[in-house]
Amino acid sequence: MTDAEPPIPGRGLPLSARAPGKCIVFGEHAVVHGAPELLFAIDLHTQVFVRVAEVTRLNADPEASARNGYFRAALERGWAAGPPVDVRAISRIPRAAGLGSSAAFASALAAVFLSARGGATRAELAQLSFEIERGAQGVGSPGDTSAVVGGGYLAVNGGPGEPLWTVASGDQRWAVRRVPDPGWVWVVAHSGIPRSTGDAVRAVGQRLARPDGPELLDQFAHAATAGIDAVGRGDRPKVAELMRRNQELLREVGVSHPRLEALLEAAAPASQAAKITGAGAGGSIVVLPVPGKEADLVRRLARAGGLPFVVRPAPEGAALVEG
Ligand code: PMV
Repeated sequence: MTDAEPPIPGRGLPLSARAPGKCIVFGEHAVVHGAPELLFAIDLHTQVFVRVAEVTRLNADPEASARNGYFRAALERGWAAGPPVDVRAISRIPRAAGLGSSAAFASALAAVFLSARGGATRAELAQLSFEIERGAQGVGSPGDTSAVVGGGYLAVNGGPGEPLWTVASGDQRWAVRRVPDPGWVWVVAHSGIPRSTGDAVRAVGQRLARPDGPELLDQFAHAATAGIDAVGRGDRPKVAELMRRNQELLREVGVSHPRLEALLEAAAPASQAAKITGAGAGGSIVVLPVPGKEADLVRRLARAGGLPFVVRPAPEGAALVEG
């Protein structure tokens, strides 16, 4: 935790907070097993509004805590001793798309609960947000929740310098560091195919338990370590080469999908590199556009049936919204 990371101040309900989504450039899945990852917060947000009420509800649904594992986990882990709350959530992040909608919801709600309980450091917000997401999914790393708490570009288990914070689960530890923003514009495209992060993470875990698993994990780690360095130096050709390498590894562990392959192919003429982002098996791709060809790229992805977004890093992570 550095002084540069603002804490969550203590305030009373009603409160509102918002958090950005995220996009993983290198190391998804491998990060669950301790390898490095590079990701950035994206400028699409989820906002929550929370007030004390007679009955706990999410978007007017009094059954939401039974239906929605993230809401249930947030209440259990962040608000166990609190009164019933009425929560309204609005989001511009597509759901189950690998773009961090669940991490943004978890950390915005965690920011409100921690504030109402007297305030917290950003490290505590990162830890609680991770516990909510992991509580709902059963598996996973703190990469997504740290990105949406920290904002900007972040490296997990890699990069130079002092960690901003370290997130723990049992014996496992993930150190989170800031990476300089190279100032690039990215394009992501959602395939429209929803999938479960937990199922994809468990399937990759089984794949990595086979005899060649450790060697594959080393290759993921190598691509992400070099990728963190290349993004930090703003070396676009190197980042593109390493994204292509990372994509081959994601295919190898079985998380591609014909719709994702079709989007990758459609992106090729206007991109320096493209790969799956997030858990895969559906969800989204991330593309490093050929500079100046962003609009052409968006057209190609839309024509191929994807839902494209031009994304820039959101410099600010989860925060209370004043007023
Ligand atoms: O839920 P998604 O698609 O954003 O995937 C998260 C990235 C994984 O590495 C697959 C899981 C994790 O918790 O790190």
